[in-house]
Amino acid sequence: MFGDMTIELPGGFSGLFKKKKKRGVGIDIGNSSIKIVELEKKEDGIFLKNYAITKVDKEGLIRPGSSKIISNDVGEIVKKIFNDIELKDKNINVAIPSFASLITTIELPPVSEKEIEQIIQVEAPKYIPVPLSEVVYGWEVVNSKQAKDETEDGDSSLLKASRKTPVKVVLASIMKNISQEYEKVFENSGYNIESLEVDTFALKRSMIGAKKGNFLIADIGSCITNISVISNGSVVVNRSIDVGGSRMTDLLSQAMKISKDRAEKIIGSQGLEIDSQDIKKQIMIPLLKNISDDIKKAKEGFEEGYPDSKLESILLTGGFSQMKGLKDFFSNQLGVAVADSNPWENLKYPDKIKDSLKSLSPYFGTAVGLALRGLIEE
Ligand SMILES: Nc1ncnc2c1ncn2[C@@H]1O[C@H](COP(=O)(O)OP(=O)(O)OP(=O)(O)O)[C@@H](O)[C@H]1O
Ligand SMILES: [Mg+2]
Repeated sequence: MFGDMTIELPGGFSGLFKKKKKRGVGIDIGNSSIKIVELEKKEDGIFLKNYAITKVDKEGLIRPGSSKIISNDVGEIVKKIFNDIELKDKNINVAIPSFASLITTIELPPVSEKEIEQIIQVEAPKYIPVPLSEVVYGWEVVNSKQAKDETEDGDSSLLKASRKTPVKVVLASIMKNISQEYEKVFENSGYNIESLEVDTFALKRSMIGAKKGNFLIADIGSCITNISVISNGSVVVNRSIDVGGSRMTDLLSQAMKISKDRAEKIIGSQGLEIDSQDIKKQIMIPLLKNISDDIKKAKEGFEEGYPDSKLESILLTGGFSQMKGLKDFFSNQLGVAVADSNPWENLKYPDKIKDSLKSLSPYFGTAVGLALRGLIEE
């Protein structure tokens, strides 16, 4: 149990010595591809040292709703990638999909920061539906506008004993057996898991960073769409559905009686500008509506919990978010500005790779966020 959202593996960190971290490696295992990023911190900034994306042709690498969420094949695939790229840092930060976690906001009575830990131990079992011995959990205090108004110096992280309003805390937990599954994947790989982090928190780090305000992030991948609302740096809403690019590929290949590869190419090149109005109306729009309805639920959940706040914008990431016409479709459906994301924004890299990095932006939000996690000194 840790007062930080990263769910650390036991035994990794002694807490006695300050770690000077120069390198950070992030690994995002997705259903269609595995993304790896290595960063190096120098005096004049954070440098991109290495990045790799490997498409996988096996289906069902990560399986929502299954008792074992990660397929046995992942270990072999990861080992091959490690052989191909030479990472200097053997300590890796790995993402856990948020569907495998429970993220919930709880309200505690007005207490000081010191008391939070004790109170959470009493409150957590009310929100986590399994014995605490079976989970690892972490929390984060929500920096609400109200909390900020109550502190004279404007530093909302300073919780004062005198505060009057309840303290909102985001509680995140994962089952121990899931963290063990991830440990197993990297067993004998020559690499050591430094942290396991729920992907939403990694995305928050690379896409929002220190920005104030309220943003919705939609990560639309091949099998999963993960939606979160970040308010002044805290994850206040999180939900996911098992819909993404591969569902559209399947539906299109069935309807047009073409191979999945061909269907994926048509979606990738034409998107909503497809010639066939029937395909657009009967297949594409209903699936996109499914996703935008879920984004709407997250937006409404946020507005209900934070009635004084308004969403600034919706930030898109994930391969499927590049679909032609999707941004306009979402902004029309939702009435909020929709923008692409740039995970490379605060990194340094050679100018000659600028264009290729730009085209890879939708894929690397989580891996960059994890690598940045690896640079944090403890
Ligand atoms: N231009 C495009 N238009 C529409 N879809 C696209 C485009 N380019 C890639 N995709 C889709 O993006 C998906 C892959 O995205 P991504 O790499 O984010 O998924 P993943 O992380 O592997 O999967 P998940 O997060 O669901 O486990 C594939 O379904 C692919 O068909
Ligand atoms: Mg993904």
